[in-house]
Amino acid sequence: MTSSRPLLVLLWFIHMTIPGLTEGAGALPDGPLNAAVGGKVMFTTTLTPGTPFQSVNWRFGAKDIFTWNVNNFTAPEYEGRITFFMSTGSLELRNLAEADSGEYRFTISLLGEPTMLGTTRLKVYEPVSNVMVTSSSTELVEFSSSVSLSCSSSGSSLSFLWLNSSSEVAGSDRVQITDGGSTLTIINVTRYDQGPFSCRVSNPVSEGTSAPVTLSIYCE
Ligand SMILES: *[C@@H]1O[C@H](CO)[C@@H](O)[C@H](O)[C@H]1NC(C)=O
Ligand SMILES: *[C@@H]1O[C@H](CO)[C@@H](O)[C@H](O)[C@H]1NC(C)=O
Ligand SMILES: *[C@@H]1O[C@H](CO)[C@@H](O)[C@H](O)[C@H]1NC(C)=O
Repeated sequence: MTSSRPLLVLLWFIHMTIPGLTEGAGALPDGPLNAAVGGKVMFTTTLTPGTPFQSVNWRFGAKDIFTWNVNNFTAPEYEGRITFFMSTGSLELRNLAEADSGEYRFTISLLGEPTMLGTTRLKVYEPVSNVMVTSSSTELVEFSSSVSLSCSSSGSSLSFLWLNSSSEVAGSDRVQITDGGSTLTIINVTRYDQGPFSCRVSNPVSEGTSAPVTLSIYCE
């Protein structure tokens, strides 16, 4: 008996297993993909264009949305929203709604090669619109008045940034940014706090800036 045989078996096992794993993992690039409500997204596979295949399947969660084998099958609610690209198995999805957010799964049976799989996530955002600033007061007295500016906007997953002229407002004892960034409070205003102040709102698919607001500060 020699001790080399278990090692050979182990090497053979690693050789046979690892390539299968890597082939199975890479059929779609890592997400997530971001897109806007009403917009479109392209799920591009990593397949070399023209690679021969026998069948392709696209799923959203557990739902079968598109299958190509000899015929094409499109789920009824996806009719008119899908374009399938024969050269790479890629899929375009149009007229997106927030409900299209989630996990997409791609399976392709190649000729004479292992089946390839891929998953990716899509996140659909309502674009930023109607960015507005309202002020608790526009007539203020130096060193005694305080003011709150509130920023409102339509859209999903919003981030807020305040601008004083063109510089970003920095928080301090006197200058507070609260409510997830949407409220700017200036305590004991000074004559230098007239602004103009504006609010810039963004999410991963769009951004918008409010009209500027100028404060009138009376000096005693
Ligand atoms: C399936 O769809 C692709 C892409 O739109 C098209 O090229 C192909 O001819 C269709 N096949 C059948 C059988 O309808
Ligand atoms: C605002 O002014 C009042 C009165 O002068 C003072 O007591 C208070 O500490 C000031 N607040 C800040 C945050 O500067
Ligand atoms: C706004 O900018 C002016 C000029 O740089 C500065 O003096 C003032 O403190 C700023 N105010 C706020 C609330 O950022």
